[in-house]
Amino acid sequence: MTNKPTKATLTFDNGAAPIELPMLSGSLGNDVIDIRNLGKHGIFTYDPGFMSTAACNSNITFIDGERGLLYYRGYPIEQLAEHCNFMEVSYLLLHGELPNAVEKQQFTDTINGSTMLHDQLNNIFRGFRRDAHPMAVMVGVVGSLSAFYFDSMDIRDAKHREVSAHRLLAKVPTIAAWSYKYNLGQPFMYPQNHLNYAENFMHMMFATPCEKYEPNPILAKAFERILILHADHEQNASTSTVRLVGSSGANPFACISAGIASLWGPAHGGANEATLKMLEEIGDISRIGEFIKRAKDKTDNFRLMGFGHRVYRNMDPRAAIMRNTCHEVLDELGLHDDPMFKLAMELEKIALEDEYFVSRKLYPNVDFYSGIVMRAMGIPNSMFTAIFALARTAGWIAQWSEMISDAEHKIGRPRQLYTGSERRDLRPISER
Ligand code: CMC
Repeated sequence: MTNKPTKATLTFDNGAAPIELPMLSGSLGNDVIDIRNLGKHGIFTYDPGFMSTAACNSNITFIDGERGLLYYRGYPIEQLAEHCNFMEVSYLLLHGELPNAVEKQQFTDTINGSTMLHDQLNNIFRGFRRDAHPMAVMVGVVGSLSAFYFDSMDIRDAKHREVSAHRLLAKVPTIAAWSYKYNLGQPFMYPQNHLNYAENFMHMMFATPCEKYEPNPILAKAFERILILHADHEQNASTSTVRLVGSSGANPFACISAGIASLWGPAHGGANEATLKMLEEIGDISRIGEFIKRAKDKTDNFRLMGFGHRVYRNMDPRAAIMRNTCHEVLDELGLHDDPMFKLAMELEKIALEDEYFVSRKLYPNVDFYSGIVMRAMGIPNSMFTAIFALARTAGWIAQWSEMISDAEHKIGRPRQLYTGSERRDLRPISER
């Protein structure tokens, strides 16, 4: 095996002096070439989409797409999903260590104590159209928190940052559930702080003032799993958005609102919603062959939604966990014979055996199974991305806090390769 390089040399074909660049090693994963000083030589790099660029250093989440690994703070996702609840995982993401029993209780109590929204916020919901998408409402209402909770918005103060982090974690589920209630025209259900995080969200989504609501423990556990599996995923588009917005010193509510907007894009958080839409379009097991054929056809831009992943070229570790949860939920609800779920299971089976999907390592991803679980739980498609957002809030806040507390952090300011006009003189309007 060759030694790891410690330096890289950039040479030019015009005789200009070569530039030596140091290599940096992380604790896991790829080494990187440190190009920070290139600009001083008048040299810039070009990398749209950050395909080959590490934009920060972080000790929160590690992904190895080839080997199908996902760790939060070094702990494998499988162990966290099996043994922890979402409060412990959120604490871990924020503080770097798992809480002991006392810390877990204190953290849970703090979050539970902040779940209610300022009463004036009700009026903001009422300003939206009833048929507004829950994500549109969330972008607006989460952003508006900065107009209510400005007593702790000095981002240079660690205590203020912590208070805002707790407020976001506590209030985003209330905002997400109320976005749905507002759609339905049902009264907002206030949080019940004796319930756990997952149960409380289900209560705010499904309860009405007219009937007693008891969250089903198997469904609540499945929901908790969805939250844990989606809590963080390294420097994806929405997390990078949160960091970029936060790098200018913007307040945390504005940053998370921007993250929600980024997640809303169909190429990012919308895949679970798209999976269910696709299943509805396929409609019947007899039509699976036709859609598999279309997915393989290069002249047709149709893709099997819920299959494949940009980073995981092996089974997405979250998908393997969600697959088991999916079967637990379908068993609990007696839905294995429901035509929609039979169709999903048959599609999974056919695609896992089909040479096209096998040779390209196109496995069902986490969104394939989480979409099915949420549909089985009675959650409407339009809420899927909102739930992804509430889970990811834990990771966004952790990443934002990590960036702000890093003394070396700088405002994000990418460069560009300018391809527009050279200097030219304007002509008077009468001559244009
Ligand atoms: N259906 C059919 N063919 C596919 C699919 C699919 N879902 N995904 C990839 N391929 C083919 C692709 O056409 C290419 O074929 P060929 O080599 O013959 O040209 C090959 O597989 C390799 O694909 P790729 O272009 O390298 O994949 P990518 O990294 O550009 O795309 C992806 C990754 C997730 C955007 C894509 O797999 C996809 O569109 N999947 C469906 C949407 C989806 O489920 N997205 C959710 C991802 S998980 C979300 C998260 O973690 O946040």
